[in-house]
Amino acid sequence: MHATLDYVHTGPGTLAGRYMRTFWHPVWRSQDLPAGRAFPIRVMSEDFTLYRGETGTPHVVGPRCAHRRTQLSVGWVEGDSIRCLYHGWKYDGAGQCVEQPGEDAGFADNVRVPSYPTREYLGLIFAYLGEGAPPELRRFPELEAEGVLEVETFRRDCNFFNHMDLDLAHIAFVHRESPEADAGLVGIPEVDCEETPYGFVLTGKRGNSTQVQHRLMPNVSYFKVYPKDAASGWRDRVAWRVPIDDEHYRSFMSDLAHVTGEAAESYRRRNAPPVDHSDLITKLSAAVRAGARIKDLQDQTPDLVFFQDDVVLTAQGAIPDREQDCLGPADKSVMLTRAIWQRELKALAEGRPLTQWTRPSQLVARTGV
Ligand code: FES
Ligand SMILES: [Fe+2]
Repeated sequence: MHATLDYVHTGPGTLAGRYMRTFWHPVWRSQDLPAGRAFPIRVMSEDFTLYRGETGTPHVVGPRCAHRRTQLSVGWVEGDSIRCLYHGWKYDGAGQCVEQPGEDAGFADNVRVPSYPTREYLGLIFAYLGEGAPPELRRFPELEAEGVLEVETFRRDCNFFNHMDLDLAHIAFVHRESPEADAGLVGIPEVDCEETPYGFVLTGKRGNSTQVQHRLMPNVSYFKVYPKDAASGWRDRVAWRVPIDDEHYRSFMSDLAHVTGEAAESYRRRNAPPVDHSDLITKLSAAVRAGARIKDLQDQTPDLVFFQDDVVLTAQGAIPDREQDCLGPADKSVMLTRAIWQRELKALAEGRPLTQWTRPSQLVARTGV
């Protein structure tokens, strides 16, 4: 039996971090980045500056000015460049220093900060934080259909792999009183899973219905999510689980509600755009871990399903000791996730080629109700 390769620590230079950096990851919601604004972001234990140029193009560059290391995000955006607050050095979107007010012309040519390829897709800003040329940005035609696209995000105080390990069986317990149960998703499923060219497919049979979810390597799920209201039906969701550092991660979710025309207008009137309630949920969740009951606190959050998941995933500990897990046949998907990761990390460690994950032109997810 080989020692388990570490798949939870993703900082620079770690094996899992090197693996994760071969993929694009969402880092921010488009709607939260107005033109001309800059924010500090932390992804996989590394700091960056995210800003949107006045032209509307998002950019990700290094966290600090090359001059005397001031945090660049406290400066300001000019055109598609960002200017440091301290002495005004200015960097373009490629990280090249283009102006140094107090210096001779020519010095700037030799000065730069790191920059990273950036794209905007499905209401999210994606960055490629790895080395070399980025791969194609994976598309989700399932979410490009007509309808109302909503983008949700939350931060959670545990390792991203706690979420990667989340299985279909948890729904019957964690969410037994929730909008998911109200929409008919009740009972323990008979679970199965199978590796595919994109990762694996996960199925849960309850009576005559089969729930189908897809996991796309390394950290993406595609599935159906319960209706926000009776008139709109089940939504399609693509979700990314992105490490902030080893003990925190952020989920980004693009949801498509299948309503068009007047129905879409009335959907928008009934449902305000999603708000990030992470601070509140983190506080309530800590209270539950300290002895409070979910049912006594749940009225305080508009996001019951996120709250329930937050309690169960943070209650595993920020980085659970998985060597102590006691897995049974119903944990097939957990075992498969870990087996795929072990295989890929081993290949990376030994310098062998990694699996080139590809997806079919159409994936079908099923509600299971
Ligand atoms: S520290 Fe940025 S210009 Fe001096
Ligand atoms: Fe859940």
